[in-house]
Amino acid sequence: MRRTVVVCEGPAVPSSPWPARADDLLLRDPVEADVEALLAFRNDPVVNHFMVRTHVDPDDLRRELLAVPGSPTDHSCVVERDGEVVAIGFLDVVDGPGQPGVPDGTDGLIGYIVDPRFAGQGIATATARALLGAAFDDLGLRRVTAAANADNHASVAVLEKAGMRRERLSRQSLWHHELGWLDEVGYALLAEEWAARAG
Ligand SMILES: CC(C)(COP(=O)(O)OP(=O)(O)OC[C@H]1O[C@@H](n2cnc3c(N)ncnc32)[C@H](O)[C@@H]1OP(=O)(O)O)[C@@H](O)C(=O)NCCC(=O)NCCS
Repeated sequence: MRRTVVVCEGPAVPSSPWPARADDLLLRDPVEADVEALLAFRNDPVVNHFMVRTHVDPDDLRRELLAVPGSPTDHSCVVERDGEVVAIGFLDVVDGPGQPGVPDGTDGLIGYIVDPRFAGQGIATATARALLGAAFDDLGLRRVTAAANADNHASVAVLEKAGMRRERLSRQSLWHHELGWLDEVGYALLAEEWAARAG
């Protein structure tokens, strides 16, 4: 019997960096069954106080999550501990500014949301470190950035404990639906800094 081999051409899709383990956490691709667990805390007012996207439509969240495993650029993950969803991690591959000849897809942007019921247990710090590991070690990115409201002291502590370097304070640069214009702090890490730390 003859077999037909179909060769698909197109841009190379980096394979998912997940699943990965970090301390007692499992970071993995999202599945349909996660949507409800994530919705239970994504629109919590405690969370949205620190998010500029202050409300996420449940259908949009479902669509975005379920698109992750097939996406070449969105490597968001669900964070699980002992079989329970405790957080979500964000890892997007982004392009640098559009100067002629700038290489595509060399930079990453990370973020995280921890279910408020599990705050203060080191989950965000372990997640941020795992996101950096995925970005540099698995995806081979050149530079990773993260940003937080300047008054998000817990997130700032997380970024600094994860080893990121503060690069900027942008005054009144973020619009928050309830809080108005907010200051933002920006953090970054280069692959060489990550490697030096590991070595
Ligand atoms: C910010 C957030 C991610 C922290 O998650 P977490 O799992 O509680 O974080 P960790 O336990 O890993 O670490 C938090 C650190 O912040 C510190 N911290 C907490 N509240 C703080 C405050 N008000 N001021 C200063 N430090 C604070 C903790 O002491 C801890 O540091 P330590 O381990 O050195 O004591 C979580 O609260 C969250 O999801 N918030 C809403 C969404 C959000 O802000 N996402 C980030 C957007 S940039």
